[in-house]
Amino acid sequence: MSDADVPVSVLQSRHLTRHFRVRVAGQGWRRRVVHAVDDVSLDLRAGEVTAVVGESGSGKSVLARVLARIIAPTSGELYLHGEPVAATSRRTLAYASDVQLVLQDPFGSMNPVHQIRHNLERPLMIHGAARQEVRALSEAALRRVSLEPPERFLDRYPHELSGGQLQRVSIARALCVRPKVLLADEPISMLDVSVRLGVLNLLRGLCDDEHLAILYITHDIASARYLAEEIIVMYAGQVVEQSRGTALVDDPTHPYTQLLIASVPDPVNPVAAAPDTGEQNLSTIATQGCRFHPRCPRAMDICRAQEPPAYLVGEAHTSKCWLYRDHPGAPVELAIPRRRGEGVTTMT
Ligand SMILES: Nc1ncnc2c1ncn2[C@@H]1O[C@H](COP(=O)(O)OP(=O)(O)O)[C@@H](O)[C@H]1O
Ligand code: SF4
Ligand SMILES: [Mg+2]
Repeated sequence: MSDADVPVSVLQSRHLTRHFRVRVAGQGWRRRVVHAVDDVSLDLRAGEVTAVVGESGSGKSVLARVLARIIAPTSGELYLHGEPVAATSRRTLAYASDVQLVLQDPFGSMNPVHQIRHNLERPLMIHGAARQEVRALSEAALRRVSLEPPERFLDRYPHELSGGQLQRVSIARALCVRPKVLLADEPISMLDVSVRLGVLNLLRGLCDDEHLAILYITHDIASARYLAEEIIVMYAGQVVEQSRGTALVDDPTHPYTQLLIASVPDPVNPVAAAPDTGEQNLSTIATQGCRFHPRCPRAMDICRAQEPPAYLVGEAHTSKCWLYRDHPGAPVELAIPRRRGEGVTTMT
């Protein structure tokens, strides 16, 4: 795949890192640094969905919040429309309007004492919309998420809507301020199975029709395959496998991705024993070598001693694993964007 085939990047991160200092129980309390997000470089492109997949605790939400600039990175760079964003500066209204975050729990993200109208109009007012146009903008946003007619929803309270309807309202609220990037943090995981597909198709439509760049965060690799142009698998804060298209799901190379796929329930035999992925906890994350080695069925001596680089294992497909050290693909590095409008990638 050539660079010409890849749409322009809207939001890019290079070597993005966020650490937390925590105290962990053990023989007395010890201080430890949690590498919640570690050296993550990604490109969110107009008209594309990029999925980030990983089990609980892998750093997905911290990544979304650093990209939204709700929390500051420990190090690394962000580029919006090719321009560097000063990491230490406060988030500007312009940045907040361009990059919007949709959270997992639609009930928790709405103000329950106010009607939907207020929940939609407030961000518009904050972003400087004229009082006389907020009603029309709110109605238009509800139409964009297929909540029609809008007047049926504007005067209702959050508790009067279903989870699926409320998640649509929270997407509408994000759309009100005309973002270029939507960061959707597990947007369907708290919804009934029956309405999940509708919300996924809504995201797909926004991407196709309005050329939004969407980051879709999930622990469900099957939904990532359904929705995304690019898939990234995270383990313990790091990108361990990444591919454009569905190569990563159809032909997984990293033992952790293989574990994630093996743990997807079999619809024919849903009670069949599947490996338990569970939540990542500090005791199973190695601090030396490959972070996955305590759980990896294929761990070798080198895995315990040295952290692997990301190897190119297929077309636009990388795997951070020593198993591919003799593979013809050299270790890869994403290029730093240079000028406005330049979408630079060296993954291919
Ligand atoms: N404010 C915080 N203070 C300390 N540790 C945190 C904080 N926020 C997240 N973490 C830790 O960072 C890691 C990644 O968390 P998170 O991004 O929420 O995971 P995910 O969304 O993939 O489930 C976890 O180990 C979590 O405990
Ligand atoms: S580097 Fe080693 S321990 Fe890590 S995933 Fe690959 S084989 Fe397993
Ligand atoms: Mg999360």
